[in-house]
Amino acid sequence: MTANTEGTKKLYIKSYGCQMNVYDAERMSDVLKPLGYEMSEMPDDADLVILNTCHIREKAAEKVYSELGRLKFKKSDRKAAGKQMILAVGGCVAQAEGEEIIRRAPYVDMVFGPQTYHKLPEMVAQAHRKTGSVLDTDFPTDSKFDHLPAPSAKGGYSAFLTVQEGCDKFCTFCVVPYTRGSEYSRPVEDVLSEARCLVSTGARELTLLGQNVNNYHGLVKDGGEWGLGRLIKEVAEIEGLDRIRYTTSYPAEVDDALISAHRDIEALMPFLHLPVQSGSDRILQAMNRRHGAYEYRILVNKLRKARPDIALSSDFIVGFPGESDRDFQDTMDLVSEIEFVQAYSFKYSPRPGTPAAAHELQVPEDVKSSRLAALQDLLNSQQRAFNESCVGRHLKVLLDRPGRKTGQLIGRSPYMQAVHVDLAPDNLGRIVELEIVSAHGNSLGGRLLAVEDAAKYRQSNTTNTKVTG
Ligand code: 5AD
Ligand code: SF4
Repeated sequence: MTANTEGTKKLYIKSYGCQMNVYDAERMSDVLKPLGYEMSEMPDDADLVILNTCHIREKAAEKVYSELGRLKFKKSDRKAAGKQMILAVGGCVAQAEGEEIIRRAPYVDMVFGPQTYHKLPEMVAQAHRKTGSVLDTDFPTDSKFDHLPAPSAKGGYSAFLTVQEGCDKFCTFCVVPYTRGSEYSRPVEDVLSEARCLVSTGARELTLLGQNVNNYHGLVKDGGEWGLGRLIKEVAEIEGLDRIRYTTSYPAEVDDALISAHRDIEALMPFLHLPVQSGSDRILQAMNRRHGAYEYRILVNKLRKARPDIALSSDFIVGFPGESDRDFQDTMDLVSEIEFVQAYSFKYSPRPGTPAAAHELQVPEDVKSSRLAALQDLLNSQQRAFNESCVGRHLKVLLDRPGRKTGQLIGRSPYMQAVHVDLAPDNLGRIVELEIVSAHGNSLGGRLLAVEDAAKYRQSNTTNTKVTG
């Protein structure tokens, strides 16, 4: 069997699910680069294919098996042409299902969990030796972050940086504590050096990632720990970094230091994803969430006091076991009151091994569907109303990717809306001031007012707690 050309091998990674998987995929590619692997856009010519999977809902997990079915044929086509394709399953499905994957899809060469991808070079070598399928779903005692190389130059203007991983909350519907392991915060110095590295390779925006990112408590070199608010303050000092975001937050652990960061740090964008899941106290309790609807409302009030224009987003689950019409109405009432600018909403999906899956009072599928439709109507109308309220405003947009049409670029507003604008490609990576001229369900259209450099952008935002207009 031969690789593509002497020295270079092609790597194709398909990521499912959350932003942490996107980050992990980049780190996998960094780990494999010294072995001569270069990224490919297509699986067809790849020597190594990695499916970086998500186990959060049943549909997400099933997608992996359908994709594996398709890849099986590509693998045998390559074999017929005298070439190899190592097929690997990583991420949370790999962690949760392990050997079951090899049983259902015996042509898979490697299965590895989210905590072992720093060992990919060894696993690939083993797969080459063809000593059966390689399985590594350990939770090693030392962190993978201690073994990963520095991020390679990507030129990404908006980059992800994992600062915290894992979860000890055990919401009764959720697989994450079982697939990602217990909560771990990277030491402050590691985070800062990776942040500096990403900025030096072109990032102007960093999104700090963690399953419970706001419970970050990273060790400081000289002793002690920093919370997320303090960390953000330090990250904001990095020369050349203009924007900071973080996700995902657990409402019961948003502390005053983080709320103050929203008031004091202009680089911290006025957008927060703060999953509430339900508006019913009864259901929140059954979910083992550590907040009630009242506490969530109080928290939102505090955040809005600190940063009046903060835009909120959330996750919702409808049809959690035992959810009554009244409980669902409580969710609708909470949404009507808070007004979210965007949200993700899902039908409850029983996950094997989680407490809620064994609950007797499962909600019928048709009830889940109609509740989801009603909730999504309301959420979509709020998103549309927010987008329409932006027409005529001037927003600063970091242009980070080409649009679908030629001559078009796309970026994010401070409030995370995608904004498209007709501009030449050399404007990529710039923060531009746009007049918003159109609003759509999921995006905005803008017209150029000014191209700003980083320093000017910061200056004009120092006293800004509202959309510039
Ligand atoms: N069923 C439906 N949605 C779920 N989520 C997590 N687990 C489940 C499940 N079993 C949703 C939650 C979470 C988001 C990432 O996915 O809303 O915040
Ligand atoms: Fe899952 Fe709850 Fe942990 Fe979020 S806080 S990852 S929903 S267990």
